[in-house]
Amino acid sequence: KGYFMKPEFLKDLIMYQIYPQTYLDTDGDGIGNFQGVIQKLDYIKSLGVNAIWFNPCFESPFFDAGYDVSNYYKIAPRYGTNEDMIELIEKAREKGIRIFLDLVAGHTSIEHQNFKESMKGPDNEYGDCYIWKNRDYDLETGPTPDNYIQNFFPEQPALNYGYARIKEDYEQPVDAPWPLRNREELKNILKFWFDLGVSGFRVDMAASLVKYDDDEVENRKLWQEIRSWMDENYPESILISEWGYPDHAIEAGFHIDFMIHCCKLSYTSLFFNEVGTWDGKACYFDARGESSADYFIEEYTEQWNAIKGKGFISMPTANHDFQRLNCGPRTFEQLRPAWVFLMTQAGVPTIYYGDEIGMRYNEKAPTKEGSKLFLGPDSPKGERSGSRTPMQWTSGKNAGFSDAPEEDLYLPVDLSDERISVEAQEKDENSLLNFARNLIKIRKANSALGSESEVEFLNTKEQAYPLVYKRYNDEQCFIIAINPSAKPADYTLDSPVKDYSVTLKENCDIDSKDNSLTFKMKEFSFAIIELNK
Ligand code: NOJ
Repeated sequence: KGYFMKPEFLKDLIMYQIYPQTYLDTDGDGIGNFQGVIQKLDYIKSLGVNAIWFNPCFESPFFDAGYDVSNYYKIAPRYGTNEDMIELIEKAREKGIRIFLDLVAGHTSIEHQNFKESMKGPDNEYGDCYIWKNRDYDLETGPTPDNYIQNFFPEQPALNYGYARIKEDYEQPVDAPWPLRNREELKNILKFWFDLGVSGFRVDMAASLVKYDDDEVENRKLWQEIRSWMDENYPESILISEWGYPDHAIEAGFHIDFMIHCCKLSYTSLFFNEVGTWDGKACYFDARGESSADYFIEEYTEQWNAIKGKGFISMPTANHDFQRLNCGPRTFEQLRPAWVFLMTQAGVPTIYYGDEIGMRYNEKAPTKEGSKLFLGPDSPKGERSGSRTPMQWTSGKNAGFSDAPEEDLYLPVDLSDERISVEAQEKDENSLLNFARNLIKIRKANSALGSESEVEFLNTKEQAYPLVYKRYNDEQCFIIAINPSAKPADYTLDSPVKDYSVTLKENCDIDSKDNSLTFKMKEFSFAIIELNK
């Protein structure tokens, strides 16, 4: 069993994630908006991406940056109107760019009308729309999470999709009236935006809907129902999950699953260092070169084998919850090997806004709209605002993000490295921005580097650096070697190579002797070569 029907556009998809708060502010309130994104469509297109995913942009009290929705049918006024969204969808479509929004499926805001009704009592029509442990509260002061099940922060009560196993009186089965009604409501929301031209949704905490769900069986069934409905009514639209177990998510009907913090943490073992949002120590992409990619390779290969031909994994450059690549001890020059890795992987690449110019995770950014996660007392970790700072467009006021007075900006602009701006990098042919564009061009020009082609890692347990892998299909075969460490590392290919051509290389010599090929890799180096038949 599986889903093989997929829109054609999926196989060339390259996504760009925009945190709408901080992309471009055109009305001077210090917060980004959709007219700002419309202005930047040519820039976005110039990257080579063909879809934008926005973090939740619906009406919200913003206790969790918009992941607490109070009205799923209305764009938050600070970003514009539904008409602005429609204008954006149309203008983007003219440029070959699709728009994906974010569906917060598992919870709403405490300010959602349904929650306000639901709290009135069990006899209210909306009584069981949420999960009430008890009704011991005063209507004046309102309920607290002692009364209801929260899905994330206290301001995010869980919608009632039922329980896979029932332990308490207040828990309902998945086919009780409200769990079924909440499922239907998901379809209504999707329908509303698909009809306006939205091409897909990223689904927040996709496996969190049905509770006590061992092995995520009931959650998978729930999404399969939604996917079947989509295949029938909106076969050109897609769903992308924040699930983190591609084998489950793709089986559940998602077209793409993000692999970043979930799974057994293999992405984090590659990229997350000791600074930032995570407790990673010596990750693989680290100058010290003390780690190994075994963990990643093993887990990734398992997941890839489970889903290939059915859906895709996306390993993003970063996202709004985690540190950017430019973080902690990782320096600017170390970003290029990381980009080579991410843009030559199977699946769907996703670029987090600003990563294309190497914006830095700002350790000094203040907490904003629930950005801080509570990972323990006095813990500096879990501060997400460092990855949410304004896009750096120019060297001018507020980095060209906004005309507002500095103190009104959503978050301060990070000027720790003033060279980092789109303006400066446009002019410099060796900039990260132009490097990233070139990598995307290379990916598009070579089908073996694309989302569907095979990937095989060649590292052995004995040799951790460099990272070497093969991407191939019936037409082409590439070998990619990457040394993310500061220590030189050599690698000799096992099988003989007759003829090859270099697609891209930096800081690396390639020796060919008696049909055998050796990559001699200096610090922070990479090579992409094509084996000629
Ligand atoms: C995951 C989102 O990515 C994150 O930003 C949010 O805080 C939680 N889900 C809760 O919705």
